[in-house]
Amino acid sequence: MTTIDDGRAYGRASGTWDTDLVETGPGTPAGELLRRYWHPVARSEEATTRPTEVRLLSEDLVLYRDASGTPGLLEPRCCHRGTTLYFGKVEETGIRCPYHGWLFAADGVCLDQPCEPDRGRNKASYRQPWYPVVEYHGLIFTYMGPPDRQPIFPRWEIFDDLDDETEEVVIVDHFAFGGPAVAPCNWFQTHENAMDPYHVFILHNAISGPQFDPRLEIWPRIGWQRTDGRVTSTQDRELDDGTTLHRIVEVQMPTVRVIPTPTLSYLGKSNNMSWTQPIDDTHTRVYAMVRKPKGQEAQGLPVYADGKSWFDLDEEGHQRFPGDYETQVGQGPITRHSTERLSSTDRGVSMVRRQFKEQLAIVADGGDPVGVSFDESASSRTVIAGNYIVGPDTDLDSVPLAETLD
Ligand code: FES
Ligand SMILES: [Fe+2]
Repeated sequence: MTTIDDGRAYGRASGTWDTDLVETGPGTPAGELLRRYWHPVARSEEATTRPTEVRLLSEDLVLYRDASGTPGLLEPRCCHRGTTLYFGKVEETGIRCPYHGWLFAADGVCLDQPCEPDRGRNKASYRQPWYPVVEYHGLIFTYMGPPDRQPIFPRWEIFDDLDDETEEVVIVDHFAFGGPAVAPCNWFQTHENAMDPYHVFILHNAISGPQFDPRLEIWPRIGWQRTDGRVTSTQDRELDDGTTLHRIVEVQMPTVRVIPTPTLSYLGKSNNMSWTQPIDDTHTRVYAMVRKPKGQEAQGLPVYADGKSWFDLDEEGHQRFPGDYETQVGQGPITRHSTERLSSTDRGVSMVRRQFKEQLAIVADGGDPVGVSFDESASSRTVIAGNYIVGPDTDLDSVPLAETLD
């Protein structure tokens, strides 16, 4: 009997994912690569004297802020007999376990053992597992990797020359342009979307839009570039007045995306960047850091039909006006790479994947990944993404220009 392959669904492969892209847990190659960088774990206001449970890179942790203002990020399970510090009591210098009262500082050091002789003659030999934290413009970052490979905390040039009188930095943590803070899908399928400029024209214009600035409705000339630790997409649109809108979007290792405002409300270098944070293999939280004039709205949500935002849509509304959340969560909890049919427009996505896997191999070989620095004098990271208007009189040295790869 001959076998007929006419493409019908019967007998199709369910497919598998590429573990080197999607795994986040300790000991996995991708999880170990991720653990070589600093990551946002919460907004600053989430760290209070009431402990809160957080999850990052498939690890459960407890976050608090002691009464002196120092945030702490500890393993929840108390090193004495294992109850959770989620029910702990936060004091001036740390968090006290509710069961037998051991008190831990933010660096895990045990400061008090009230039931032990002399309140713990050997308390210095106990340490609650902990991670270091840094607060930066309203986000709390942590480093969850090996102590001897801890890089300096990277600061970002686009946020570091703030005029405190007139400007401020705010954190937005709903999903991209609409959706809950935590999306039920793997982080990589959200991350790589930034290098998929074609979806802007289809999803955000033809299907559900126009959702952004009308100047973005013009079909662009698109290119992709790759430099150390950075993949960029450039899009050039000829405008009616003879100028060119030269838009650059970038992703940086490992989870950073710089997507200049699609409302074009800020021209020049991007005023925002975001992190697609792997909560675990099937959950992602997106944090955006936005620099803006005081009193002005942060980047607005796209408006769908009838003046509704994503949060106002009912189920049928989400079907009629799908956005980033619907399409990325719609790829499944973890997209199955083996059944994909990548085409010419997926070049940027492929570049992001390749970059990540190359760095994964470097770490597996004992090296340090791109983008980490151990030199305090080189702590600032640059951004080139932006919306640049290029006219006949533009000094081209001031604008990162589009190059299209062969
Ligand atoms: S279980 Fe935490 S002090 Fe005993
Ligand atoms: Fe999008």
